[in-house]
Amino acid sequence: MAKKILLIEDNPDYIMITRRILEQAGKEYEVDSALEAQEGIRRVIEENYNLILCDYRLPGYSGLDVLKEIRKQGKDSPFVMVTSAGNEKIAVDVLQEGASDYVVKDSSYENILPMVIQKAIDRYDAKKEKEWLEKALIESNEKLKEMYAVKSDFTSMVSHELRTPLTAIREGITIVLDGSLGEINNDQKEFLDVAKRNVDRLKRLIDDVLDFSKLESKRMIFEIRQDDINTLIDEVVATQASVAQRKGLYLNKELAADLPKVGFDRDKVNQVLSNLISNAIKFTESGGIVVSSRSNEQENKVIISVTDTGQGIEKEDIPKLFQKYQQLGGVNQRKTGGTGLGLAISKQIIEQLGGKIWVDTIPGEGAKFHISLLLKRQYKILVIDDEEIVLDVCEKFLTREQYITFRASEGAVGIKLANDVLPDVIVLDMKLKDMGGYEIIGRLKSGKDTAHIPILVISGYEDEIARIKAQPEDIALPYLLKPLDREQFIAQIKTLLSG
Ligand SMILES: Nc1ncnc2c1ncn2[C@@H]1O[C@H](COP(=O)(O)OP(=O)(O)OP(=O)(O)O)[C@@H](O)[C@H]1O
Ligand SMILES: [Mg+2]
Repeated sequence: MAKKILLIEDNPDYIMITRRILEQAGKEYEVDSALEAQEGIRRVIEENYNLILCDYRLPGYSGLDVLKEIRKQGKDSPFVMVTSAGNEKIAVDVLQEGASDYVVKDSSYENILPMVIQKAIDRYDAKKEKEWLEKALIESNEKLKEMYAVKSDFTSMVSHELRTPLTAIREGITIVLDGSLGEINNDQKEFLDVAKRNVDRLKRLIDDVLDFSKLESKRMIFEIRQDDINTLIDEVVATQASVAQRKGLYLNKELAADLPKVGFDRDKVNQVLSNLISNAIKFTESGGIVVSSRSNEQENKVIISVTDTGQGIEKEDIPKLFQKYQQLGGVNQRKTGGTGLGLAISKQIIEQLGGKIWVDTIPGEGAKFHISLLLKRQYKILVIDDEEIVLDVCEKFLTREQYITFRASEGAVGIKLANDVLPDVIVLDMKLKDMGGYEIIGRLKSGKDTAHIPILVISGYEDEIARIKAQPEDIALPYLLKPLDREQFIAQIKTLLSG
């Protein structure tokens, strides 16, 4: 489609010359012209031009006034200023006011003009396309978020609505079964037993779906305590022993003595171990299962493994294993029951505890599922400071304490990192090149995910510290004056971590 160009120029000779130059440029241009500024502005507002080419010196007006007026009216079309030779100052001014480019009326005009025009149009088109794509992306993102919210609301609503009547049904069956409403005969008991078993199964399924949707949307609350993992293994193995025995399988333990305590949520890890051991029993027909524990202090973790002598898993199935509703045996697997959520839930739990879950397996010979848990929670500290030397010093202090350090030398980068990494503490210098300390604090405090992260202010300026000190006690931030003293710095970080 032809590009429409408006030429605002009071000299009819130049209009003619410019028209000719554009005609010869080999592009499809449709050129309109206006002899004075007012008329030019009017036409720009009324019509859509792909480019405005405007002389700087117009009767009673400067091209700069035209540009300002057009921009004020909300028109962002590319604008190229035509200036007389030797006036660099004007060129700078017009670019600052949002002109796309300028051309000088001298001997090079004829050669330069078509290039400048095409470049300005292309750049504008590219910008519009980028804006359009960004807008489309944001819209589709919003849509996805909405759909996701609807989906998880739906899941939890349905699950809750199912749970209540199910509990009532189970209660009813239990009361009739236990004979408190009168004797029942063996046939009746048998049917009621079947009904109760199925209700229990349905309830487990609903619990799993609900658990998974909570874990997936990070709404599950963890209660983490320093605890002994071996006693948990003892408990889970004891509850599953009879199931293994009934299948004629051994269920042994090989637990490391004097295993250090680990920070974990006992109920949740119980759920993971129960699933791993029950899977091992389900998919093993002869031989048995060994549950082992060991620590690797160098890598700051304990590893628990569940090894079976069962059917194992085909290599190509491994990536599917930890996804929701995945049961590898297809329809043949009906007999083993379950919903295929066990490993997906386990993965969410272990990863949200900072650990990992993985499997080694030889098809036909067995599978070895491992989980690792962190021995000592590794705190993440983000330091935002524009001086490399301060970043280096902080990192050295923090690494010595085995904290993981993230560093940013600009405010914007710091805020992004804070959102990505979700550090446990943010150390912030108040004077950065791109953003003031208070703006950064404001943005962090108003971010949903970053609002609760404690901030330690560091500054080399007494007056800055005085300002912070002057804040009311409930909103005042902890602070340290540079140069930082290692012991004070670490003590402050520890206080914030324990708070
Ligand atoms: N030890 C194992 N040996 C062989 N295959 C396994 C083993 N553990 C899991 N699998 C395969 O991975 C699938 C997914 O396991 P997962 O625990 O997620 O689900 P499930 O046990 O089928 O059901 P659920 O745990 O929800 O009751 C299983 O259905 C099985 O095909
Ligand atoms: Mg399972």
